[in-house]
Formats: sequence, structure tokens, C-alpha cells
Amino acid sequence: MLKSRMEKFYHASVKLLFVGFIVGLVSFSLTSTATAGGKGKVTAKTGDMVLADSCSQCHSTSRVTAKKGLTVAAWNKIIVNMQSAGANISVQDKETLANYLAATYK
Ligand code: HEC
Repeated sequence: MLKSRMEKFYHASVKLLFVGFIVGLVSFSLTSTATAGGKGKVTAKTGDMVLADSCSQCHSTSRVTAKKGLTVAAWNKIIVNMQSAGANISVQDKETLANYLAATYK
């Protein structure tokens, strides 16, 4: 008698756990799709965005775009120099910018 009651209780808790798990899963996937589709979305910056964001605090961007015909490697060197001067730029943005500058200002 006691055993079967325990069994019922056990089954009920397993069911509850399972339902809780599903509810958690659904709400988790709902919030993550909401974030992915909404304002929280992290998009990679384009080269001109990086230029405006990271390279216009100390001098105008025309100081940058006046340079023509540099390779990606040469731009990377310049960006590293600017970083030691205090420019704030992420590794990803650095790559985007060097490629953009080399391809755009020939
Ligand atoms: C913290 C300030 C600062 C930031 C931010 C900055 N620069 Fe500069 N930049 C300087 C200074 C100071 C000079 C002048 C150095 C000189 O004349 O030797 C300069 C000069 C330059 C020059 C001319 C160099 C030459 O040889 O004529 C280029 C090109 C340049 N910066 C590119 C950039 C790029 C690209 C970025 C963005 C990643 C950037 N800068 C961000 C401080 C900065």
C-alpha cells in the first residue's frame, strides 16, 4: 500500500520535472530567438563603420583615406601604430578595416 503511494508520488514528480523541463526549454528558445532577431543582435561592422568609430577621435578620417595604394599588411602596421597611440579597435574590426582600406583606397 505504502509502496504504491510512493510510486504514484514518484511518477507525479517525474511528470512535473518533465513538464518543467519542456517549459524551460520553450521559454529559453523563445527568448534567444527574440534576442537574435531584435535590437540585441550583434552584427559585424563594415569597414567604413570601423573607420568612423575607431579612427576619428584624434584626427579626421581623411588623414587615413589620403593614403593610397597600401597593402592589407601595410594598413595593419598603421593600425597597430594607432593602437599604441591609443586607438581602441577589436581584432575583428582591425581585420575588417585593413581589408576595407586596402580594397577602397588604391
Ligand atoms: C589615440 C589617437 C588616435 C587614434 C584613435 C587614431 N590615430 Fe591615427 N594618428 C594619430 C596621431 C597622433 C597621428 C600622427 C602621427 C604622426 O604624424 O606620426 C596619426 C596619424 C595617422 C596616419 C598618418 C600616418 C602617416 O604616416 O602619415 C594614418 C594613416 C592614421 N593615423 C591612421 C589611423 C587609423 C586607420 C586609425 C583607426 C584604426 C587611427 N589612425 C586612429 C593618433 C590616432
